[in-house]
Amino acid sequence: MAGMTAFDTLDYEARDRIAWLTLSRPTVLNALNLQMRDDLWAALDAAEANPEIAVLIFKGAGSSFSAGADITEFGTAPSIEAARQARLQRDLWGRLATFDKPLIAAVHGYALGAGCELTLLCDFRLASEDARFGLPEVNLGYIPTAGGTQTLPRTIPPGLALDMLLTAQPIDASTALERGLVHWVGPIDSLYTEAEAYARRLLAQPPEALRLARRALRETADLPLPQALALEARLRAQLP
Ligand code: COA
Repeated sequence: MAGMTAFDTLDYEARDRIAWLTLSRPTVLNALNLQMRDDLWAALDAAEANPEIAVLIFKGAGSSFSAGADITEFGTAPSIEAARQARLQRDLWGRLATFDKPLIAAVHGYALGAGCELTLLCDFRLASEDARFGLPEVNLGYIPTAGGTQTLPRTIPPGLALDMLLTAQPIDASTALERGLVHWVGPIDSLYTEAEAYARRLLAQPPEALRLARRALRETADLPLPQALALEARLRAQLP
């Protein structure tokens, strides 16, 4: 089943069991504003509800993946309480962290701040040679709030995560590959075919084993080894 849905800030295309989510505010480098968060939420609803969809791929329209939270919206919530309430109602980052279908980020240009953190909530990060990853928040007087302080040191060695976080300096694609932040770097012309090939490799696996193996990795990450092994055994028991 194929189909394209255009949200205000996002294109959602379901094709051959893959949902392509294209961040689409290209004139502001796909800065994540509240509307885009709502649109992402609705696109996740669509991908979750559709049993045909087995993998999601995020990408950016125009020259970048995403330059992060929309800085023109900083400080515009009516109150701290209202901002907190909005986050509680739609915990987009928490939802991605527990989303039950594999997530791939295909990154070109900038992936900064929340743009970078979105990729860290994905299972796989593929980057074109021009990609730049960074968490500039500290330099702006903030700290990351889309999970970056937690997901980055769970993805690359904690010392390197601290370096990225505290110096606020972006790293280029080859450094990202060296540090294990991305799974693949290559020419921009191959980025989406490579992302699709990754997705196809996942689609070729027995779906339930793939789902449970993914859960075993994600859900045990913060458990002491004995509990993690017990959870692994419980997940194993769900397979024939
Ligand atoms: N929020 C809102 N608008 C943004 C944005 C963001 N995070 N990032 C870029 N834009 C806008 C710019 O204001 C500019 O708009 P304009 O054309 O109306 O002036 C447009 O996107 C293009 O950006 P520009 O700065 O001209 O591109 P560049 O190639 O010279 O620089 C960056 C690219 C990413 C280095 C630069 O845009 C930047 O530093 N952006 C902010 C990144 C950031 O701090 N994000 C994290 C927030 S926590």
